[in-house]
Amino acid sequence: MRTRGPLALGATAVLAFGLVSCADLGGLDLDTVGAPDKTTYVKLALNQSESHPSFIALENLSERFEERTDGRWVIEVFPNEQLGSQQEVLQFVMSSAIEMAIVSGTQLENLNKDFQVLNMPTTFGSVDHQMGVVRDQDLMEPLFTSLEDQNISVIGGFTQGSRSIYTSDSPVLTPADMAGRKIRVQESDMHIRMIQLMGGSATPLSYGEVYTAIQSGVLDGAENNEVSYVTQNHYEVAEHWSQTEHLVGLDYMVMRHDLLEAMSEQDRDAFLDEWDKAMVEHTDLWNAETAQAIEDAKAGGATFHEVDRAAFQEALAPIKDEFLTTPFQRELFDKVRAADTAESTDPESGE
Ligand code: GCU
Repeated sequence: MRTRGPLALGATAVLAFGLVSCADLGGLDLDTVGAPDKTTYVKLALNQSESHPSFIALENLSERFEERTDGRWVIEVFPNEQLGSQQEVLQFVMSSAIEMAIVSGTQLENLNKDFQVLNMPTTFGSVDHQMGVVRDQDLMEPLFTSLEDQNISVIGGFTQGSRSIYTSDSPVLTPADMAGRKIRVQESDMHIRMIQLMGGSATPLSYGEVYTAIQSGVLDGAENNEVSYVTQNHYEVAEHWSQTEHLVGLDYMVMRHDLLEAMSEQDRDAFLDEWDKAMVEHTDLWNAETAQAIEDAKAGGATFHEVDRAAFQEALAPIKDEFLTTPFQRELFDKVRAADTAESTDPESGE
C-alpha cells in the first residue's frame, strides 16, 4: 500500500471549500505530466475491498503501466471508499481533485440519461455480451465522449455481473414476496422504478451504508452481485439470496479529460492498451470469483433460492418503454441487443 494521508486531506478540502484550485491542493501540473525526470502520481478511487476483482485488476494495471513507462507514471488505487462514495469521487474527478475513479453506470446516468440504456434490465444477456459491447469502440464512442465538457473521459468498463435480490427474514421467490420490502438501490431513478415494478419499495443509498442499514432493520435487503454480497459481508445481515438475476450491471473507468489530453500520444496509447488488458483480466477473474463467493456465502450461513424468474421479467417489461424515450436511446438499445448472439441468455426470450 502506498501512502494515503495527504490526499484524503486534499479531497476533504475540496468538499469543504468547493472551488479550491488544484494547485493549492498539490494537484498535477498538466504541462509536465509524464516528463522523463519525474514520477506522475495518479489517484484512482474505488469503492471495493482489496479482495474484489476490480482492485486486483487495477493494481495489475498500475504495475504494468508503471513498468511500461519506466516509473514515470504511478497509478495509486485507493479502495474501500477511502476517497469518498462514488457520487463524491465523480465530483472529485470533474473538479480535478483526483484523476480517476471506478463508478457504476448509475452515477453516469445522472450526468447523461443516455447511460440508462446500459443500466437497464433486459439490455445485456450475459457478461460476455456486455463486455463485447463495452469494448466496441464505435458503438460506445457517443456515450464515452459525451461528458468531456464536464472533464470526464469514460475509458471503458468492468462488469458487475448479474444482480439479484437478497433479504433478511425470508426470500423473495415471486414479485408478490416483494410487497412491503424496503430494498436498497443505487442512486438512480431507473433502479428505483425497477424495484417498484418488481413489487417492492426502493431506497437509494450509497454502497458503504448498506450493511448498517440492513443490520439496523431500516432496510429489508438490497440487490447486487454475489461478489459484492460477500466482499461487503452483506450475507451476514441478509442471509436469503434470491436468484432474480434482474440486471447485468456495469461499472466504468472515468478519468479527468484534461489529463488524458495532456498525456503524450505514446503514454496515452500505452495506458489505453494496458487498460484494455485490465478489462480482459477483470472479466476472466469475474466468473471464478463469483463461484468462490457463492461457496463463501453458503459457508457463512447464506441460503441461495431459485425464483420465478419469468414472473420477475414480466413485471419488469414496462421499464423499456418508460426509460427509452429518445430515438438515440432506442437505436442504441437495439444495436446492443443485436450484438447478443447467445439466444439462451437473451432475457427477452424468457429462458
Ligand atoms: C457493485 C458495483 C459498484 C456499485 C455497487 C452498488 O458492487 O461494482 O460499482 O457501487 O454495486 O451497488 O453500489
